[in-house]
Amino acid sequence: MSETITTATAADSGASATERFLADKTGGTGPGADTTRVNTLATEVITAVHQVIRRHHVSYEEYNALKSWLISVGQDGEWPLFLDVWIEHVVEEVAHASRKGSKGTIEGPYYVPGSPARPSVATLPMRENEAGTPLRFKGQVTDISGQPLAGALLEMWQADDDGLYAQFAPGIPEWNLRGSIVADAEGRFEVTTVQPAPYQIPTDGSCGKLIAAAGWHAWRPAHLHLKVSAPGHEPLTTQLYFKGGEHIEDDIASAVKPELVLDPRPAADGTGEVTYDFVLDPAS
Ligand code: DHB
Ligand code: FE
Repeated sequence: MSETITTATAADSGASATERFLADKTGGTGPGADTTRVNTLATEVITAVHQVIRRHHVSYEEYNALKSWLISVGQDGEWPLFLDVWIEHVVEEVAHASRKGSKGTIEGPYYVPGSPARPSVATLPMRENEAGTPLRFKGQVTDISGQPLAGALLEMWQADDDGLYAQFAPGIPEWNLRGSIVADAEGRFEVTTVQPAPYQIPTDGSCGKLIAAAGWHAWRPAHLHLKVSAPGHEPLTTQLYFKGGEHIEDDIASAVKPELVLDPRPAADGTGEVTYDFVLDPAS
């Protein structure tokens, strides 16, 4: 464990996650701009809140606690974290219900586009003596008929052995454990990295306060993040977990699916080795 863990705060990761979201995700208006749709969704959300208030006889004291908490989520920059932990998994489930290829899961707040390009057999950018068990992760990207997707792109990002993400926690090189791997002519890739540690969502901000107040825990199981893409195909945003890993059964972000669990086997040199293939749907 390095000392950086004590200096990663909710304010650091929250501000960066908010900035990232505003830079990448707020370009278009999309169907959300349709008045009928906004009316339906906003009315139903507000009505659902009314029902909770009536059912549980919510007091003025509780109403003001909520108001103050909502204000602090904004002040801490924790809206991206809150939404990606407690809401995104259902959006992902609905969006991809009819997908035929590989299962995906939530993106979370820590994707950064434009990570350094690497060939099909590569090591993710990392520090000298990067802590953690080495992991070799290989496989093939195909379409739903099994045809290899030559030159498919695998963007990977992950936490380090302290559970911290480059660009969202201080003191980590910019592109540490982030890379864009280009698969070979047969869609194959072989990436060497280190096994990430479980990730704890920041406990010193408003999301942490909610977790403590409700008696929940703040953990996500260790995971690799990936975006797999190829021209003419639906990009896949996914995460891969580790069999038997802590919090596999009680991920705070509810993003684990049985199809996404890896079981690396130690090679002669102690490196964990695992094969995982990706199947992309045709673009719709
Ligand atoms: C959050 C962090 C993650 O690493 C992730 O995969 C999903 C959500 C979060 O802090 O909101
Ligand atoms: Fe993550």
